[in-house]
Amino acid sequence: SAKKQYRIAVIPGDGIGKEVMPEGLRVIEAAAKKHGVAVQFDHFDFASYDYYEKHGEMMPADWKDKIGKHDAIYFGAVGWPAKIPDHISLWGSLIKFRREFDQYVNLRPVRLMPGVPSPLANRKPGDIDFWVVRENTEGEYSSVGGRMFPDTDREFVTQQTVMTRTGVDRILKFAFELAQSRPKKHLTSATKSNGISITMPYWDERVEAMARKYPKVKWDKYHIDILTANFVLHPDWFDVVVGSNLFGDILSDLGPACTGTIGIAPSGNINPEGDFPSVFEPVHGSAPDIAGQGIANPIGMIWSGAMMLEHLGEKQVADAIVGAIERTLAERTLRTRDLGGNADTTACGKAVAEMVD
Ligand code: NAI
Ligand code: MG
Repeated sequence: SAKKQYRIAVIPGDGIGKEVMPEGLRVIEAAAKKHGVAVQFDHFDFASYDYYEKHGEMMPADWKDKIGKHDAIYFGAVGWPAKIPDHISLWGSLIKFRREFDQYVNLRPVRLMPGVPSPLANRKPGDIDFWVVRENTEGEYSSVGGRMFPDTDREFVTQQTVMTRTGVDRILKFAFELAQSRPKKHLTSATKSNGISITMPYWDERVEAMARKYPKVKWDKYHIDILTANFVLHPDWFDVVVGSNLFGDILSDLGPACTGTIGIAPSGNINPEGDFPSVFEPVHGSAPDIAGQGIANPIGMIWSGAMMLEHLGEKQVADAIVGAIERTLAERTLRTRDLGGNADTTACGKAVAEMVD
């Protein structure tokens, strides 16, 4: 039978995005080869300051034709604030992908890796291992609202939360499916129905309705205030945590922060139906302060590659990469400086590639 070949759009972007991307590609290539999976990379230079400098825009007008048919987009980082304001660079690229490719799931693992010190006392690898699922298109981050009577005593502003049944149900379905696929089969919902008394009770109602379709999944809910406290006090309680756009935004920064450095955290912006390609990228940005020195940690980029392969259905390849990351991090000398090691970006990437089995 004809072997499936994945087509990946590769966009390194700015700063350390350009330095960590080759390591991500190196590891994917090594893992794909070992597991007999065919991956084709198509490289694009847009969504970067260099492109903007030449063309006066972040992306070509036909960017959707160029990358819209790929199986996934592998993205480094965008932003060069000394030369271009962030609202132009990010809204001209990354935010367009998220909106126009309807990437309504933002997914981040929260996992304590060997050799990475946690800011939480007495936690060891295995203690913290869960996913944060954030609604990525609606909710609190709506454009419904406005300002009236500016500069008068009557001045007021309003911005309305928008929750649609379609939008809420599809993120909950994704989260319940993920929980069902995991050994613990446990879902936690972030709410605040005691204070936000219209939209959050609605969210809770949809969670209850969705839960009935997943009888094997145990579920609970916490108000967002105590939930953030429990991330810190009891990170071992969680398996899959789902939240609205605002709550998910907070939790998806807090969670990875509890497991160490920004240099290793990966993320996915996902369109689960596959109507459009999903974007996989490290959580960190272009890090202008260390760009050009070859010292950036490539693990966030590499781990994002593992998430991408898992999304494409290649769980074995993904697991092989995550295992190689774990073994590399466990060895002090193979880590980059942000983790107290002495490897540079390339040495760390090569080490992970060699550890893949
Ligand atoms: P940043 O994540 O680029 O850097 C924050 C700090 O973490 C810096 O001190 C940096 O050196 C360090 N750091 C980040 N990644 C690292 C790595 N892989 N290895 C070692 N150290 C690392 O965030 P910052 O400085 O706020 O933003 C810089 C630019 O990146 C801005 O233009 C911002 O808008 C953009 N940005 C883009 C994102 C994206 O493309 N998704 C996400 C976050 C920021
Ligand atoms: Mg955030």
